[in-house]
Amino acid sequence: MGYRVAIAGATGAVGREILTTLAERAFPADDVVALASERSAGVSVSFGEDDDLKVQDLSTFDFKGTDILLSSPGAKVSAEQSPRAAKAGAIVIDNTSHFRMDPDVPLVVPEVNPEDIAGYTRRNIIANPNCSTIQMVLALKPLHELARIKRVVVATYQSVSGGGKDAMDELFNQTRGIYVNEPVRPELFTKQIAFNVIPQVDAFMEDGSTKEEWKMVVETKKILDPAILVSATCVRVPVFIGHAEAINVEFENPIDEAEAREVLRNQPGISVVDHRVDEGYVTPAECAGEDHVYVSRIRCDPTVENGLSLWVVSDNLRKGAALNAVQIAETLTSDYLN
Ligand SMILES: NC(=O)c1ccc[n+]([C@@H]2O[C@H](COP(=O)([O-])OP(=O)(O)OC[C@H]3O[C@@H](n4cnc5c(N)ncnc54)[C@H](OP(=O)(O)O)[C@@H]3O)[C@@H](O)[C@H]2O)c1
Repeated sequence: MGYRVAIAGATGAVGREILTTLAERAFPADDVVALASERSAGVSVSFGEDDDLKVQDLSTFDFKGTDILLSSPGAKVSAEQSPRAAKAGAIVIDNTSHFRMDPDVPLVVPEVNPEDIAGYTRRNIIANPNCSTIQMVLALKPLHELARIKRVVVATYQSVSGGGKDAMDELFNQTRGIYVNEPVRPELFTKQIAFNVIPQVDAFMEDGSTKEEWKMVVETKKILDPAILVSATCVRVPVFIGHAEAINVEFENPIDEAEAREVLRNQPGISVVDHRVDEGYVTPAECAGEDHVYVSRIRCDPTVENGLSLWVVSDNLRKGAALNAVQIAETLTSDYLN
């Protein structure tokens, strides 16, 4: 018997990718319901090769009988709707930032801390981490087991799809506009994004960091180890899909490049592509549509005692959002719900 699954935010960048991922992986669903705002009620979204689903209004949807809700309608909407669904008996896998740091809500990357899923019973909610965190902790996990990480310094190069469908349109329209000499009018982004890079993702915090940077710090601690120190600089770049990260790691214990490469190669969810020749590394354009997190440019950092630098790239809509959420749902159904 299959599950009754609902997708909130089904018309968005993440929601559409969730529908694609569920169909591709043949998730055991008997019934799939697409939900979005009142504005989208009645429009169709594709599900798999042949199916179209009529979108229903999330705010009035009755969750009774729904087994799993995969939710990405934005943090404010999730804050209200996810507990409502959970109360009606659905287990919610929430993609927004709202529940991630709630101590009663597990924050899960299935290849890193699948055992934490068991804690879903406290609120009937499991949180999906931030896209930049997911790809980083997946690469850090085997390295931490090998030599114990003390400190991580990361700079991100984040694609515009991390900001949703309207952010993708803004890059497209600005790029076209610049070619025909139209004035640039930033709307979602704080500055021109076409032919530019912006060192601000999400709002500023009191200490001068941005919320996206804070998320990488606290989420890494919650998922991997509270002892790990993280210093992050998050940057938006004019790329449609795929986040890249330049990561520098300091370890407690000695680590050499060959060992690091070996443990990364053996880590599920990771592909190492690391040849010291032209084109011997992965870029965002090549990882779009792919499931894995790609690690390249693995090299020792001789400026600290036990240091290593790496380049980590992944499709933010897939492993950074939809795929990770569907993997959580798969583990939930196979290990807890049958
Ligand atoms: N993009 C990423 O890489 C990524 C990664 C991880 C997590 N997330 C998180 O996932 C969430 C969605 O991101 P996204 O990129 O998919 O954004 P998006 O493309 O802007 O899509 C937003 C979705 O939310 C729906 N929505 C907006 N207001 C709503 C309301 N009042 N009631 C019901 N549904 C509403 C929209 O429906 P309408 O079409 O009807 O407006 C749309 O389906 C955000 O919280 C984001 O932080 C995104």
